[in-house]
Amino acid sequence: MSGQSQVDLLKRLLHYVETRTTAMADAPWRNDVSVYTRPERLAEEQRVLFRHHPLLMGFASEWAAPGTFRTDDFAGVPILVVRGRDGKLRAFLNVCRHRGAKVAQGSGNARLFSCPYHAWTYDLSGKVTGIPDERCFPEVRPERSSLAELPLCEKHSLVWVIPTAAADGSTDFDIDPWLSGLGPELASFEFGSWAFYDKRVIPETMNWKLVVDTFNEGYHIGFLHRDSLRDVLHGNITDFEAFGLNHRLTFPRKKLQRLKEEPEESWELMWNTTLVYSLFPNTVLLVQGDHVELARVFPCEGRTDRAVMDLGLYVPKAPETDEERTHWDKNMQLVLDVVTGEDFPTGRSIQLGLTSGAQTHLVYGRNEPAMIHYHQSMQAALGLASVGSQQAAE
Ligand code: FES
Ligand SMILES: [Fe+2]
Repeated sequence: MSGQSQVDLLKRLLHYVETRTTAMADAPWRNDVSVYTRPERLAEEQRVLFRHHPLLMGFASEWAAPGTFRTDDFAGVPILVVRGRDGKLRAFLNVCRHRGAKVAQGSGNARLFSCPYHAWTYDLSGKVTGIPDERCFPEVRPERSSLAELPLCEKHSLVWVIPTAAADGSTDFDIDPWLSGLGPELASFEFGSWAFYDKRVIPETMNWKLVVDTFNEGYHIGFLHRDSLRDVLHGNITDFEAFGLNHRLTFPRKKLQRLKEEPEESWELMWNTTLVYSLFPNTVLLVQGDHVELARVFPCEGRTDRAVMDLGLYVPKAPETDEERTHWDKNMQLVLDVVTGEDFPTGRSIQLGLTSGAQTHLVYGRNEPAMIHYHQSMQAALGLASVGSQQAAE
């Protein structure tokens, strides 16, 4: 974000803090509870959002060297992302062309991939390079000469994959149209030099969208987080800006008012706010002053009340001392304490409430514009007529 845009945003936040106001939607909006509970709706989300939308896989720096690979099954299909000898990052369905076993396991660095079942081998560009006892497979290699490649985009120091092979066979795409103007802002953080530090995979017993909703408003900060975040962030004060289906929410830190005594040229957005980027459909990138938390959220087990969050912590440079490591470990523990200790128990209670028959709709207030935007965006992406309403319902 340009220096002037940062100052403008900080001024908006100072105004909100001084006047006890916040970014507002035009009206409250009511969302049908079945959005979180109907198996048919989940099936449609999986078919459309988790197969045909780009999904953020991580920071490009996680695949720095040729041969570095990561496998990832969260989207419901096994995905292998690997940097080739030529420096190009590629994504494949991690599915052996013999009988379908995963050819790569976990993550690491490889010269080639050897399927554990019958040892068919593949090079880093996905090409079949070896078939044991190939005389038993006459004419087979030309028909299945490589792993199925998926469209991948490496841009703004981030990596996205569309988890369905393109009908026209293309293996790259441009993320910018999907980001609707947010691309340069993401690029401005210069994540290329950042390092992955640590991650947790957190299974949850609630709809995957309730996990995402956790990050979509600051109304709850003064209440649910009264013992953790209330002294750090202002509650119920956020700036909101939509970028197509995506959005940015900005939470002012309590220390924001100090800026008024400092020259504008020295104002820094990152140090005075928590920036929450919702990268539709399932990713939340939080810029937390000196580090970034990346939450990728997925449905799982084909159930409306099961989700998994892949939470990564990224730092401006790889730590070299125990002191630095202790600092980042504490940050990881803090986010776990707040999110899994405070937010998610509430999400689980909501999941129970959704199926109770207490009400047909939930209501999102004018002070929850990102909730409204996220769920309206999802309806649009799924091609659904609006099932929400600004009118009062049960
Ligand atoms: S399934 Fe991979 S070699 Fe047989
Ligand atoms: Fe929260």
